[in-house]
Amino acid sequence: MELDLLGNLQRTHSCGELDLSAAGKDVVVMGWVNRRRDHGNLIFLDLRDRSGIVQIVLDKELCPLAHAKAESVRPEYVVAIQGKVRRRDAASVNPNMATGQIEVNVGELKILNDARTPPFSPAEDAIGNEELRLKYRYIDLRRPAMQRNVILRHKIALAIRENLARQGFLEIETPYMTRSTPEGARDYLVPSRVHPGEFYALPQSPQLFKQILMISGLDRYFQIARCFRDEDLRADRQPEFTQIDLEMTFPQQETVFRVVESFVAAAFHAAGIALPTPFPQITYDESVRRFGSDKPDMRLPELVDIHAVFSSSDLETLMVDPSLPVIAVRVPKVGELSRKERDENRPLFDARKGAKLIDDLKRLEKAFPEAVAKVRELAGAAPEDLLVIVAGDATTRIEASDTKIAGRLTEREIAIYSSAGSLRIELAKKYAARHGAFSITERAVQNAGGDENGNLVQGSEAFFPIWVTDFPMFEHDAETGQWMPSHHPFTSPHEEDMDRLVSDPSSVRARYYDLAMNGLELGSGSIRIYRKDVQTKIFQSLGMSDEEAKERFGFFLEALEYGTPPHGGIALGLDRIVMILAGAQSLREVIAFPKTARAVDLMVDAPSLVSETQLKELQLQRRRS
Ligand code: AMO
Repeated sequence: MELDLLGNLQRTHSCGELDLSAAGKDVVVMGWVNRRRDHGNLIFLDLRDRSGIVQIVLDKELCPLAHAKAESVRPEYVVAIQGKVRRRDAASVNPNMATGQIEVNVGELKILNDARTPPFSPAEDAIGNEELRLKYRYIDLRRPAMQRNVILRHKIALAIRENLARQGFLEIETPYMTRSTPEGARDYLVPSRVHPGEFYALPQSPQLFKQILMISGLDRYFQIARCFRDEDLRADRQPEFTQIDLEMTFPQQETVFRVVESFVAAAFHAAGIALPTPFPQITYDESVRRFGSDKPDMRLPELVDIHAVFSSSDLETLMVDPSLPVIAVRVPKVGELSRKERDENRPLFDARKGAKLIDDLKRLEKAFPEAVAKVRELAGAAPEDLLVIVAGDATTRIEASDTKIAGRLTEREIAIYSSAGSLRIELAKKYAARHGAFSITERAVQNAGGDENGNLVQGSEAFFPIWVTDFPMFEHDAETGQWMPSHHPFTSPHEEDMDRLVSDPSSVRARYYDLAMNGLELGSGSIRIYRKDVQTKIFQSLGMSDEEAKERFGFFLEALEYGTPPHGGIALGLDRIVMILAGAQSLREVIAFPKTARAVDLMVDAPSLVSETQLKELQLQRRRS
């Protein structure tokens, strides 16, 4: 087919901006053919660009040449239309279309480019095959739902930039080719050609650079920073992702919180949702007790401690470890489950942590009628609610310590609370349609942008931000038997716990905080160590020799000696914020070019082998197996 030339034709309008006010105007619009309907003498094209879709009419009698051309037009052809906007008659107004009151009557049609039949149509709402979507991402991104997400992300990032600039933050870039920054993942390495055998590491975060910017006297720094982590991927994890990263000098924890609340509220505002501030706060151990998690989802009822309801002989009969918590998990409106349903739900419960599940309350009631009545009362359970009990299994003892972490919960207790906490979430996910707690969030996202008067949707019933504070400084790595920093090794311990750093690391609390929302960790940060002696001690308590500390972080330890102010900061996952506000289930919906769960970019086919010449230049050799 012969294609038309664009010539000096100028686009006058975008498709979505045409409305009744344009009626009678001569316009030029350009875009992709979303759909074509052939009614003989009349051909209708739905023309699509980023702004929306407008209906184009080609009337054989009025424009025979254009009509003839339109017969060969197929979906995804790129066309230019010169025509007149006219009001549709009452019968053909389409109330479901933003431009549904008008149409463009064609004078001239130019076919600027043809298109192969796409592997899926951007006009379809849901495309099941995600691999195909990722391989043909440019077609996927044409879909209105994806365009909405991309635009939303832009608006959110812009609002955050503006907000932080107004709060006195400077946007400063830090290098991508650098040294390893420990954030708990593996590094992506870049071999150096100039220094054979040596490697740069891509940053897992700009952590050390932002601390050095504070040492440099630049005070309030922020960056919408790309980070790279080679770790196991999940729906809320990508190997390269974006942080809203910030750092400030002389802050109290609360100073950081106020800064973050302001920009998170601005981000929500940009998405059409009013989010009340300040956000509530909870300590780590309270969060574990009440939600079985350090990222509580407060849309669901809390866990309830029901240990006191049972006598020690009751617990013995039930083969429950009396030294561990006994917890009721309630999921509203799910109802009693049948035996078959209970069996099906068993895999949702992680018994590896030494916990046992009592899910047949009817049966339990027969043996302990009063206790079960009390459990129901304590848990506030209505007859239509689902109630199960999680407790320590007296018959299995897991390898975990009875030392109180940060002076509070033991590892074994935490294990029981977190078994209960993850069951709470799994059951809630499975029966979401029955209890409806999650759909309030979905509705808020759908209605975002407000009513016809532009009033924002009130987010207080749908989004539950919460600060989690006072994390333990260290966590025990079961595999290596070593104490690891719960955050990163630059986090300051509480001043009053400092003298136990080496003698009793598990008891030390950190000045480390997270921001969680609806069961998702949005951000993490801390008040930092600013004294070299403390930093050195931390490295020691992590089992790092002085030589190793010097080799890995010598530059930083040295910088600490040149007048380092107290400082602290945080980083929030931009992708995760957009995911929540887009109502998406995966980060892949809000990143233009994401990677699969196996860290592959299906569109460009990366990673890929490189030529022998490149390897040779880098003095690298592929190992033959
Ligand atoms: P942290 O490692 O907790 O802290 O990361 C901060 C936030 O970044 C987001 N995030 C991710 N998002 C998508 N994919 C990933 N793989 C991924 N990993 C992390 C999360 C997380 O809460 N330097 C510290 C921050 C600080 O101390 O200031 C840091 O990076 O939303």
